[in-house]
Amino acid sequence: MSQYVIHHDSQYLSDPDLFSPDRWTKEAKVQFPRFIYFPFGGGIRGCVGETFALMEEYHY
Ligand code: HEM
Repeated sequence: MSQYVIHHDSQYLSDPDLFSPDRWTKEAKVQFPRFIYFPFGGGIRGCVGETFALMEEYHY
């Protein structure tokens, strides 16, 4: 699956080309279906470093 295509799907996102990290906060994400945002992949081979990477990035 293409993260770029899904992450820019106007069916779910208003103004999908706008750089707006706030739409992916923990609180904001709950309004989307699970795999609308999947920078770390998902399922059984999902990224094992996800929590660590998010903690390093913005003290998740
Ligand atoms: C911004 C940082 C990172 C991003 C965007 C990222 C993204 C990804 C993605 C997309 C995958 C493939 C998942 C799939 O196939 O569904 C993956 C796999 C993996 N990532 Fe990351 N990753 C990040 C950081 C890290 C860190 C910090 C570690 C380790 C400390 C890590 C370890 C791994 C490993 C071991 C896999 C393979 C898991 C498997 O195949 O079972 N990643 N990552």
